[in-house]
Formats: sequence, C-alpha cells, structure tokens
Amino acid sequence: MKGIDYKVDVFTGIRPTQGLTIANVIGSVHTIVTLQREKEAGRPMVFVADLHSLTDGTPQDTQKHILDIVKDYIALGLDPKGCDIFVQSQLIEEIAELNIYLSRLVTISELLRVPTLKEKIKKDMDVSNASVLLAMYPIMMASDILLQKSKYVPVGDDQVAHVEIARDLARKFNKIFGETIPVPNVLSLGKPARIKSLSGGGKMSKSNPTGAIVLDDDISISLSKIKRAQTAFAGEMTDSLDSLLKIGKFVSNTEEIRHIDEIMVKHMNGENVMGELKGVINTSLERYLREFQVKKSKILDTEIEEVIKNGGEVAKRNAKETIQEIRKAMGLKYI
Ligand code: TYM
Repeated sequence: MKGIDYKVDVFTGIRPTQGLTIANVIGSVHTIVTLQREKEAGRPMVFVADLHSLTDGTPQDTQKHILDIVKDYIALGLDPKGCDIFVQSQLIEEIAELNIYLSRLVTISELLRVPTLKEKIKKDMDVSNASVLLAMYPIMMASDILLQKSKYVPVGDDQVAHVEIARDLARKFNKIFGETIPVPNVLSLGKPARIKSLSGGGKMSKSNPTGAIVLDDDISISLSKIKRAQTAFAGEMTDSLDSLLKIGKFVSNTEEIRHIDEIMVKHMNGENVMGELKGVINTSLERYLREFQVKKSKILDTEIEEVIKNGGEVAKRNAKETIQEIRKAMGLKYI
C-alpha cells in the first residue's frame, strides 16, 4: 500500500489554563525545543489548545491565558522564526468537522475507558455531571493531530493514551475509506515523563498548585515548595524523590548534576542528605526560573499576535487540505 505523506514533523499543544508548570516543560516543550535547536526534525508546529480548556475553564479565563502560553513557548527556547505557532480556535471549522467524522468511529464505552476520563470521573465527577465535551476530549485531540498530518507528537505520560487513540482513529479511517491520513507517533526523549506533585498524590498539575512549580510564580514560592517536597527515607527510593530528581537535573548544569549524583550515592548508603539535595536543586531552580522570567518579560504582545497570525495561516492551510481529502475519501458531495 502506498504510504501517505506527513505534513508536520513534530506537533504538540498545551491548554491555556493558569501558568505553565515545570512538568509541562519536561513532559513536552523541552522535547520540541531540543529537536528544533539540534535541527533533528523538520519545522515544528505548536499550538494553544483553547478549545480543550473549555472542558474545565471559563471561556474568558481561557482567552486571557493564550498570549501567555505563546510567550512561554518562546521564553523556553522555541525560536518563532523556525516554527509555526497557532491557537486551536483559529481552526474551529475544520476541528468541528473532523470531530463529527471521527466520532463515528468510536463507541461510547471506548471513550469511557480512556484513563484520563476514568480518573476524573472517579475523583471529582460521575457520568451524570461529566460533560459530553470532556468525553470528546481525545477525539478533539485526534482532530488536532490528524488535521496537520503530524508525524511525531511529544507529550507527557498522561497524554500518551490520547495519542494512541489518534493513531487508532487514523488506522480505522484508512481501513474504511482508503489510505488518507498518516498515522502519528508518540515522541519523547526517553520514556514519556510523569512528574509527580511535590506534595504527594497524583501528577504535578496546574489544577493542584500546592504541589506544582509554576514558572510565573514568585520564585521564593517555588523554592519553598521544593523545601517542603516529599522525598524518601535514607536508603530508599520513591516516585516522589524520582520526580524531584528529574526536576533538579532538568534545571541543573553538568557540574550540579554531578553534585546531585554524589548526594544520591550518600542517600542510598543510608545518610540523611535530603536537605543538602534540596539546597542544590534550589540554587539551580532559582537561576532557571529567573532566566525564564526575564526572557518572558521582554516579549511584546504585538510580537505574539504576529506570530499567531502567521502560524494560524499555515495551520489553516494544512487543515483545509486535509479536510478536503477526507471529504473526498468519504464521498461527501454537498459540502
Ligand atoms: P496539558 O496542557 O495538560 O499539558 C501539556 C503537556 O504537558 C504534559 N504534562 C506532563 N508531563 C509530565 N508530567 C506531568 N505531571 C505533566 N503534566 C502535564 C502533558 O502530557 C502535555 O504534553 N490534551 C493536551 C493538549 C492537547 C494536545 C493536542 C497535545 C490538545 N490537543 C494535540 C498534543 C497534541 C493537554 O491537556 O495538555
């Protein structure tokens, strides 16, 4: 069977809810920044998933955070000249249309088995108050990915199941209507990351700020969260300590990483060194956050509006082409 060409090499998105956390950076932004810097992939495309935010935020809040997320991408090292950045709602027509076609290929019980939805329903809602949009979340995500004919999608561990659904939907569509949509792949530098909340419990998340390092927060707040972070008894390893180490090494230079490794040898030998570890991590984290915040403060709103306009045009062109091909494959005559 003839292969179908991809249009975008690396593609990912972030919801515009509050500030970005260090887990978002480790889970996805860092991968795309690294690939762009090392020229290991073609022109990346990133977007702000404002429609996805409507599942748990108000439309006003969502719109307020859009420019901020684009500034985050750039302040974290993405060069806007070498990539396309857009806002999901710029493609509202194409996404809504593809949602209809893809929804036809998924059963309600399949959606209810999606781990993120299952977790949410278990934690703070049930099927009587979970919205249909929440259940549609993975379908909409598949539409984002498939409209751009994306090859690689860098995401954290929590989103891997959603990319799997996009893969599945592309395959199902092609099987029924003929080879039309290329199948995307999950991408991560190593294993997909899952950074835990510093205060224990689930993953680090914008919705649980007590255990999250939020990049825009006053730096002293973040440093005190590290000081209070859960670790492990001397000689033991836990998921909490593992996450703290991932964050620490992520923000550290080579010499600081070596220091962290030395401290960990002592820890595993039964010494009480968690205070020392947090001290080293905080020195690196303070520098990392300061550099980020200074860089971000210099980015102008007008610059961002221009970036979004240009990126939106590229994404729209891709999406329109893909939708035309999909309509043709399905034999839809009257659109
Ligand atoms: P969002 O905004 O929740 O998160 C953005 C990215 O950050 C990753 N991430 C984490 N990685 C490791 N540990 C954590 N604790 C952690 N928390 C978040 C997420 O895996 C994600 O990669 N549905 C997506 C947005 C989206 C999207 C897409 C992404 C919509 N359409 C198409 C890729 C492609 C979301 O809610 O991300």
